[in-house]
Amino acid sequence: MNRYIVTGGAGFIGSALVRRLLAQGRRVHVIDNLSTGNLDNLEEVAERVTVHEFDIRDYDRIAPVIAGAYRVFHLAAVPSVPKSILDPVPSHECNIDGTFNVLRAAAEGKAGRVVYAASSSAYGDTAVLPKVETMTPRPKSPYAVQKLVGEYYATIFSDCFDLETVSLRFFNVFGPRQDPSSPYSGVLSIFFTSLLERRSPTIFGDGEQSRDFTYVEDVVDLLLKASEAPSVSGEVFNAGNGGRYTLNETWRLLQAIEGVDLPARYGAPRPGDVRDSQADTKEAVRKLGHAPRFSFEQGLRLTLDWYRSQLARKGDGIRAGANLVS
Ligand code: NAD
Ligand code: UD1
Repeated sequence: MNRYIVTGGAGFIGSALVRRLLAQGRRVHVIDNLSTGNLDNLEEVAERVTVHEFDIRDYDRIAPVIAGAYRVFHLAAVPSVPKSILDPVPSHECNIDGTFNVLRAAAEGKAGRVVYAASSSAYGDTAVLPKVETMTPRPKSPYAVQKLVGEYYATIFSDCFDLETVSLRFFNVFGPRQDPSSPYSGVLSIFFTSLLERRSPTIFGDGEQSRDFTYVEDVVDLLLKASEAPSVSGEVFNAGNGGRYTLNETWRLLQAIEGVDLPARYGAPRPGDVRDSQADTKEAVRKLGHAPRFSFEQGLRLTLDWYRSQLARKGDGIRAGANLVS
C-alpha cells in the first residue's frame, strides 16, 4: 500500500495533516525529532501512525523511510523568526540542510511528489498588497531566507533531478494544537491562552502590523490538493485565505467573543518582523482549486473552544502511546 510521509508530523500543522490522511485511509509515516512537536499531538491516532523519531539533518536515517514513498509532505523545520536570529545555527541546519536531505532522499529513493511547507515570510515588506507569487522575494530574517532557499531547492529538484515538487507559502496558520508555551509561539496561540487565563498579552510594536491568519484545516486542504494537482511541478503557491487583520483588531475581536476587557500590553517591535501580510489567492484557486472553508471568526471560535477544552482537562495525565521507532 502507498506510504505517505509527513516530516514534522508531530507538530501543529503536521499533526492536522496526519489526521486527515488517516481519515482518508492512508498509511502514514511521521519523521519528527520532537524538538517543538509532541506525541500528544497524535494522541488518539497514535496506534495508526508510525513515528520515526529521526532528525532530518541525519540523511542516513531518513533516506530509507522516504525511499519509495507515494507522497512526501515536508513540514519539519524550526519555524520561528526570532529563534533564527537568536540561535541561527540550528535553524539554518534544519531548514536548509534538512530540506536538502529530504529532497535528496526523495529523488534518490524515487519517491513521488514532495509538497514543501514554504513561508510567506519570503516576501518581506512589499510596497503592494496582496502579495503575489511573481513578486521579488525580500526576506528580512534568517528564517525567511532559509524557507526561501528550501523553495528554490524544491524547484531545482523538479528541474534537474526528476522529482515532482510543489511549494506552498503558508501565511500565518492557527488552530488546535498550536503550542502556546514558548516565547517563540505563534501570536494567536498566545492570545488564546492569555484570553482564557484572563491575562493581558504583550504585543510587540504598535499592534497595527497585519497578518493573513489562516485556519489550519484550510491549509491541510491545500496541502492535499497540491499533492495531486496536475502540471504544477516546480511551482510555488500562496497558501493563505486573502484576509488581513491587525493584531489590535484581532485582540479586540477575541475579547468581544469572550466578553472580557483585558487591554494588551505593548513592547518593543521584534527584529525581522514583517509589517503586513496578505495572500493573493488567484493562482492557488486557478491551479490547485483552493476554496477556503473557514472565515477568520469561525476559525477563532473553533480554536478557542479547543484551548478551552484543553484547559479543562489539564492535569489528567493522559499521554500518547505512539507506535514509536527510534
Ligand atoms: P511546529 O513547530 O509545530 O512543527 C514543526 C515540526 O518539525 C515539529 O514537530 C518539530 O519537532 C519538527 N522538527 C523540527 N526540526 C526537526 C528536525 N531537524 N528533524 C525532524 N523534525 C524536526 O510548527 P508548525 O507551525 O506546524 O510549522 C510546520 C511547517 O510550516 C514549518 O516548516 C514552518 O516553517 C511552516 N510554516 C508555518 C507557518 C505557521 O504560521 N505556523 C507559516 C508558514 C510556514
Ligand atoms: C509566522 C510563523 C512562521 C511563518 C510565518 C509566515 C510561527 C511561530 N511563526 O511568523 O513560521 O513562516 O508566520 O508568515 O508560527 N507577536 C506579538 N506578541 C507575541 C508574539 C508575537 O505581538 O507574544 C507579534 C510578532 O511580533 C509579529 C506577529 O505577532 O508581529 C506575528 O508573530 P508570529 O506569530 O511569531 O508569526 P510571524 O513572525 O508572522
